[in-house]
Amino acid sequence: MLDSYNRHINYLRISVTDKCNLRCKYCMPVSGVPYISHNRILSLEEITEFASVMVSMGVNKVRLTGGEPLVRRGIVDLVRMLAQIEGINDLSMTTNGTLLSDFAEQLSQAGLNRVNISLDTTDANRYKIITRGGDITDVFRGIEAAVKYNLNPIKINCVINSSSSEDDARSVAKFAKDNDLEVRFIHKMNLVKGYFRKVEGGEGGDCGICNRIRLTSTGDIKPCLFSDNVYNIRDLGVKKAIELAINNKPERGVLSQSGTFYNVGG
Ligand code: 5AD
Ligand code: SF4
Repeated sequence: MLDSYNRHINYLRISVTDKCNLRCKYCMPVSGVPYISHNRILSLEEITEFASVMVSMGVNKVRLTGGEPLVRRGIVDLVRMLAQIEGINDLSMTTNGTLLSDFAEQLSQAGLNRVNISLDTTDANRYKIITRGGDITDVFRGIEAAVKYNLNPIKINCVINSSSSEDDARSVAKFAKDNDLEVRFIHKMNLVKGYFRKVEGGEGGDCGICNRIRLTSTGDIKPCLFSDNVYNIRDLGVKKAIELAINNKPERGVLSQSGTFYNVGG
């Protein structure tokens, strides 16, 4: 599937929930996300059906995101349903890792290939502050479980303020090196102010080679993280929504007034 700028769209990111068990300062409001009535949230079947159509059109890489995907009820079933779609050769998840020690084995058995785990510091107190209350030992246990159940390659997502040589980032880089994990540094962004940067060590944020399309938990296709256009699959029908989203994927991102990270998963 090619967009109007000849970019080959093969990467689908699915946000399965807006909710999260943490409240990272740069992502979530203190009070958590606004309530969305249950009937607006796509069912596991609707998500799977959408993914199948995308795969038939050329997508071969799928990532589950949130909020925190592991707080979505039925997440293991969803992984199993997606893993059965022929044509997906990379099925991954971005998670904060805090619940991963409970889920890694089941996810792996269900067919998840790999995980990216968010970790912005290795210091327990700093972690508590950044996540507004999180316990870093949960993440360490989650990472161990991911290693044990081969959710490889395991990548650490580290959000940085200004550079990958600041203290927290360096501590994460050392932790990753010591544990043989990959690390990617993500500049803290602000969608509303139109402030975004390329991911160091990853492909995100590079408009010219962007191969992504996003689906939110309420069925909005977002062709670009840094733009407000959305195409709802329930309102328009799956095929029409995809066609509009691909044809209207902007050449480059500018800003998103409505955008939040918790509903698109970065
Ligand atoms: N800037 C950059 N990345 C963000 N994320 C969430 N909020 C922001 C932000 N303001 C990303 C982080 C995190 C993932 C879940 O979402 O990479 O690891
Ligand atoms: Fe939750 Fe991730 Fe947002 Fe932190 S960055 S609040 S862990 S979704």
